[in-house]
Amino acid sequence: MATALLQSSLHSLPLLARGKVRDNYAVGEDRILMIASDRLSAFDVVMGEPIPGKGELLTKMALFWFDRLGHVVPNHLTGEAPESVVAPDEVGQVQGRAMLVKRLKPLPVEAVVRGYLAGSGWKEYQESQSVCGVALPAGLKNASKLPEPIFTPATKAEMGEHDENISFERMAEIVGRELSEKVRDVAIRLYKEAAAYALTKGIIIADTKFEFGLDADGTLTLMDEVLTPDSSRYWPVEGYQEGINPPSYDKQFVRDWLEQATVDGQPWGKKAPAPALPADVIERTASKYREALDRLTR
Ligand SMILES: Nc1ncnc2c1ncn2[C@@H]1O[C@H](COP(=O)(O)OP(=O)(O)OP(=O)(O)O)[C@@H](O)[C@H]1O
Ligand SMILES: [Mg+2]
Repeated sequence: MATALLQSSLHSLPLLARGKVRDNYAVGEDRILMIASDRLSAFDVVMGEPIPGKGELLTKMALFWFDRLGHVVPNHLTGEAPESVVAPDEVGQVQGRAMLVKRLKPLPVEAVVRGYLAGSGWKEYQESQSVCGVALPAGLKNASKLPEPIFTPATKAEMGEHDENISFERMAEIVGRELSEKVRDVAIRLYKEAAAYALTKGIIIADTKFEFGLDADGTLTLMDEVLTPDSSRYWPVEGYQEGINPPSYDKQFVRDWLEQATVDGQPWGKKAPAPALPADVIERTASKYREALDRLTR
């Protein structure tokens, strides 16, 4: 495995933005180089230590899903090698961990699909027996499988803010009804196919977030990364039980450790900076990412 990368620093391309995990560079006017670093965020805080191999494994996973789901909707991959657009001394920073994509006009709405009740969905359900305006049957528990996957869009939050769940009606006001219906139908199809496949490999994809954009011809195109544990809730089937919060596939060791970590004798307040992760937590987390890709692709 190549050396871990906490942050890329390309001198040959202009930096567009750094997300929690990825560094994005402009390649001319019409393409973006997305580099998945080995950063890990937990409780919305980026850890100070890299998880070796994570960026590469997540990139492989996203590419696996783009390939598998290519018949449902076009995606942003150009098929060109990331190594071809950086300087020779920068190849090590992109090899195996980058995607060279078409620069699209992003829709300002995230396409969330939920097959199970979890997180903000479970919270909302307990208050209103619905999620994002979608009415649900009574009697569901935490982590219950829904009768049918539901589409629950969210607006993209500004840096540092949390995304906001919105109703389908609200989405239709923002991007138009026809496009909203198309996004909903495509997102549900993508989720159903992926979730059914993952289940045969021992992984429940409880929910996921897709992002779409329009290309120069106005064609709806799948973008960003897809169906990795960064954008989806992966649950191992072994730990699944209705009524209890299933462990996260990849982040559980880190979350458990952070929950009991102390800073100056006080529990860590879940605000940056995070306490330094111990080596065994890093290694166990890294091995979960390896295991997830192994399971999906074996
Ligand atoms: N093909 C594309 N064309 C244009 N924009 C894209 C494309 N693919 C992804 N994006 C956008 O690029 C940005 C990728 O940023 P990234 O996911 O690294 O960070 P972020 O979304 O700002 O923060 P977070 O770390 O919370 O995800 C997102 O705003 C995403 O919508
Ligand atoms: Mg993002």
